[in-house]
Amino acid sequence: MSALVELEDVVLRFGPKTVLDGVSLQVSPGERLVVMGQSGGGKSTLLRLILGILKPTSGRVIFDGTEISRLPRRQLNEMRQRIGMVYQYSALISSLTVRENLALPLEELTDTPADEIDEKIRSMLTAVDMEGSEDKLPAELSGGMRKRIGLARALVMQPELMLYDEPSAGLDPVVSSVIDELIIRTSEENQSAGIIVTHEMDSAFRIGTRMAMLYQGRIIADDVPEKFRQSTNPVVAQFVSGSTEGPIGEGRTAP
Ligand SMILES: Nc1ncnc2c1ncn2[C@@H]1O[C@H](COP(=O)(O)OP(=O)(O)OP(=O)(O)O)[C@@H](O)[C@H]1O
Ligand SMILES: [Mg+2]
Repeated sequence: MSALVELEDVVLRFGPKTVLDGVSLQVSPGERLVVMGQSGGGKSTLLRLILGILKPTSGRVIFDGTEISRLPRRQLNEMRQRIGMVYQYSALISSLTVRENLALPLEELTDTPADEIDEKIRSMLTAVDMEGSEDKLPAELSGGMRKRIGLARALVMQPELMLYDEPSAGLDPVVSSVIDELIIRTSEENQSAGIIVTHEMDSAFRIGTRMAMLYQGRIIADDVPEKFRQSTNPVVAQFVSGSTEGPIGEGRTAP
């Protein structure tokens, strides 16, 4: 199956700082690529490049055969409707209720009838275990609840590509497993592609069909979970074991 999203030798600099230093990767429909790496290593930046919010300094970001950075505004917006993003910080609109937050993309971007929108919202809220929260404002929810609503909002559009920035950070283990299950189920049902940034090893191994390690601006490992777990690369091994001994944490940060 050909890749839905592809990065080709992507370099990204912010001023003098090189955050990504030649990243190449591909994700096909039905695949879930887990991306791991140090804090500040460029994982959120990678997702922003795929959404077309940032443009690469050099290299190409391709979605469904089209180079994103070359798209005119209107086509970029159309493409973004095919991508769902779960933000690291839930990014709900604070003045809108849960129902309004979830309805917004459907109302703005589709011609789904109102009763169908209500039905979709109800079933998404049930899926993330938040039924009955339609009339709550984001400020009335806990961090974990907001995260689940953010997930529901991304999934309600049934996107072909889902990007998750730390979907289970700050959630208790039970809710975290529920979210993992939901990520897996929706990607299997829709045959959508997924890129999941996470620090939680248990989640990573549950969710990923492939795992990649971003280190010092490069992908230093990209493999199926069983192989990734057995990697002899010292950075990967340290990350997987969560050890304080190893190349990470010796005062070296991403370039
Ligand atoms: N708009 C920006 N302008 C300048 N520097 C930026 C910008 N966005 C990110 N950076 C820098 O790029 C680096 C990578 O940031 P990024 O948010 O991608 O890291 P991350 O891997 O997601 O980290 P974390 O795990 O803590 O979320 C950081 O050093 C950050 O300060
Ligand atoms: Mg981040």
